Amino acid sequence: MSWDRQIVVKSAHEITIMREAGRITAEGLAAVKAIIRPGITTGDLNAAFEDVLKKYNIYSPFKNYPGPYPYPASICTSINDELVHGIPGKRKLKEGDIISVDAGVVYQGFVGDSAFTVGVGEISPEAQRLLDVTEKSLEVGIAQMVDGNRVGDVSSAIQRYVEKHGFYVVREYTGHGVGRQMHEGPSVPNYGTPGRGMVLKNGLTIALEPMVLVGTSRTRVCSDGWTVASKDGSLTAHFEHSVAITPQGPQILTTL
Ligand code: MF3
Ligand code: CO
Repeated sequence: MSWDRQIVVKSAHEITIMREAGRITAEGLAAVKAIIRPGITTGDLNAAFEDVLKKYNIYSPFKNYPGPYPYPASICTSINDELVHGIPGKRKLKEGDIISVDAGVVYQGFVGDSAFTVGVGEISPEAQRLLDVTEKSLEVGIAQMVDGNRVGDVSSAIQRYVEKHGFYVVREYTGHGVGRQMHEGPSVPNYGTPGRGMVLKNGLTIALEPMVLVGTSRTRVCSDGWTVASKDGSLTAHFEHSVAITPQGPQILTTL
């Protein structure tokens, strides 16, 4: 699986295209974020993202992605104990929920892939702390994405930051190279050892995605075959950016 995925170095021109793919991904995620409130359904969120896809006449790399059955939507919506790959539908958001929205686009042959987690109305202090720590762990990981560093420097920075705050990182799912394919090499886990793993090079583009759990690192796959949730039912969060490693340092592609 991840270990035989191709590692592809991008030219400056290709990174320019990926920056636009990333910008559109961010535009779609912002449109989704703007309508999150108690009572709205996850299907409504998927529709809001698809409106942005239609505006650019492009599609989502998530739609029909191979799995237990082809992925049936353009975004993933994962609520509370659900970590990733939740399928949007009729479920209504409730005050106090936290929801991860993960989305991507294919623009001129290149993929943008990004996710955020946000509270619905007022949330508990513990939920807020989880969101803050997870988002900050993404920043801490991105700061390590410089030419000459190794994958383990990125991975271990995320792990150390998360565990220092008493939370857990997932083991079964990882960040990944991103480009013409949504999932390219290298695989970038959220745990690791400094100085180990592949050496990072300018021109690599990587979707870094800390997935953090309050009570355990263990997960289970739900009965729909796609949704991944914490094994103990504890809260989870997920943030993701597609990032280019450049001579000027790490550049976040999935931003407005
Ligand atoms: N953004 C997810 C990832 O990084 C992909 C969603 S899974 C899919 O792996 F099935 F919805 F495509
Ligand atoms: Co991803």
